Amino acid sequence: MKIFTEPKKLQKWCAARRMEGRKVALVPTMGYLHEGHLSLIAEAKRRGAQEIVVSVFVNPVQFGPNEDFDKYPRDEKADLAKCRAAGATAVFFPTPANMYLDAHSVYVNEEDLSKGLCGARRPGHFRGVCTVVAKLFNLVHPHFAVFGQKDFQQAAVIRRMVRDLNFDLDVVVAPIVREPSGLARSSRNTYLSDDERKRACALSQALFAAASAVKAKGKVPWKAERAKIVRRLESAGLVVDYVEAVDGETLAPVKRLEKGVAVLLAVYCGKTRLIDNILIK
Ligand code: PAF
Repeated sequence: MKIFTEPKKLQKWCAARRMEGRKVALVPTMGYLHEGHLSLIAEAKRRGAQEIVVSVFVNPVQFGPNEDFDKYPRDEKADLAKCRAAGATAVFFPTPANMYLDAHSVYVNEEDLSKGLCGARRPGHFRGVCTVVAKLFNLVHPHFAVFGQKDFQQAAVIRRMVRDLNFDLDVVVAPIVREPSGLARSSRNTYLSDDERKRACALSQALFAAASAVKAKGKVPWKAERAKIVRRLESAGLVVDYVEAVDGETLAPVKRLEKGVAVLLAVYCGKTRLIDNILIK
């Protein structure tokens, strides 16, 4: 497994692999790898990637001034071991200084899908995500890149960026990986105390209940279902940031739950902000 810290060296190596006819996949991460990330590497393998490049970079540009950039968990040694065991062929560990040179002044802004949901609560977040992901796409030039459905809005924003800026690659979105309790895997779960971890199960339980209601009744009015979800979250002691139902493609708000609708939520569990979602099938 190759290890790169220099963007130029990574770019050269990836270009050479592509020239040899190798199928290249990119798995962008912020590290502190868990089962969710490993499932993205497995998905790249399943799709026949011959080179799997995992980037590990806690991207400062996508964090707000009062967010958790400084305390975001990091463990390079464990990440390397996990990448190796999962079958990555290269890992990219840049530093902020070599990703963002002095006087860096070009950013990528998606101006539609980034407006609501997490974008409304985390100003500048998707600008940071789009900028770093565009840079990674230019460095690796993968045939496809794999993202997790856990960040549902992020996946939609990146798909739109790829379409609108003509990036020559496919965006693959892999399903959410959950703990046995239903809690969606996230590096931020390490912030949770035992009691918070128990209470955080209400997120997935509320989402599964909404999906079951659609299964049982067909179309379900969103207003009443939303009230049930909020009650469930609040009675678990969680503070609701948002609970919204949107079209799974356009992220436009909907009035009814039905096939193709995504229910997205963000809550505070103590000091930790957690997100989760379900796409109704
Ligand atoms: O989803 C993430 O971990 C990050 O937002 C990403 C896509 C690696 C960009 O920093």
